[in-house]
Amino acid sequence: MRNKLIAGNWKMNGSKPEIRSLIGGILARLDPARSAEVMVLPPFPYIPLVQSLIDHTPVLLGAQDLSPHASGAYTGDVSGPMLADWGCGHVLVGHSERRALHAENSEQVAEKFVAAQSAGLQPILCVGETLEERDAGRTTEVVGEQISAVIDAAGINAFARAIVAYEPVWAIGTGQTATPEQAQEIHAEIRAQLTKEDATIGGRVRILYGGSVKPDNAAELFACEDIDGGLIGGASLQAESFMSIYQAA
Ligand code: PGA
Repeated sequence: MRNKLIAGNWKMNGSKPEIRSLIGGILARLDPARSAEVMVLPPFPYIPLVQSLIDHTPVLLGAQDLSPHASGAYTGDVSGPMLADWGCGHVLVGHSERRALHAENSEQVAEKFVAAQSAGLQPILCVGETLEERDAGRTTEVVGEQISAVIDAAGINAFARAIVAYEPVWAIGTGQTATPEQAQEIHAEIRAQLTKEDATIGGRVRILYGGSVKPDNAAELFACEDIDGGLIGGASLQAESFMSIYQAA
């Protein structure tokens, strides 16, 4: 049985007062009787603040990106060991905004995946096709290659300590969610690809869906067999909507 995970990707949003109130609202709505887990992914400067606010609570802490290097002359970058030092247990790698706006390719994403695990962090590997790729019937191929690049670099066993997030680019921030059928189809393909390499790992890995998840579409997405939770952008910035999605899990 795979535990559901609801992860809030705040992207480049927030201020100290907003974050204090958001975390307060999340903690007030946490239900110890539920098995679903909650994670927040703040921008780098707010990680220490969030870490102190969620200390001794079940809320998990992650970051949105990391350097492929552990330390050195990389001005402006933040390394895995630094994130671990501040209490992060997880980190996104290969979010489509990094792939598109920072020209990260699948080989670089794979390097970051390996760097995260070397620092003791669980990578959340984001994959997904653009609208153009979907319209050209290339979704399976594109997502398959994004996963293969990481299997090639890190090995299948690395997926025992990783999470995958399927985020169709055309659904991110657009209000256009994939239908449960569309999402489930790709989640099943991702799981099959990993299961082909190792049945135990493929069966256990959590695959989150991301892309315009909202309180009113979360339940039907999370009811799908291979959807193990959500990576939530816009709707994670308000405690009420984020925790309604948690309740739907
Ligand atoms: P969205 O973002 O929920 O605002 O579509 C999801 C994401 O980019 O992780």
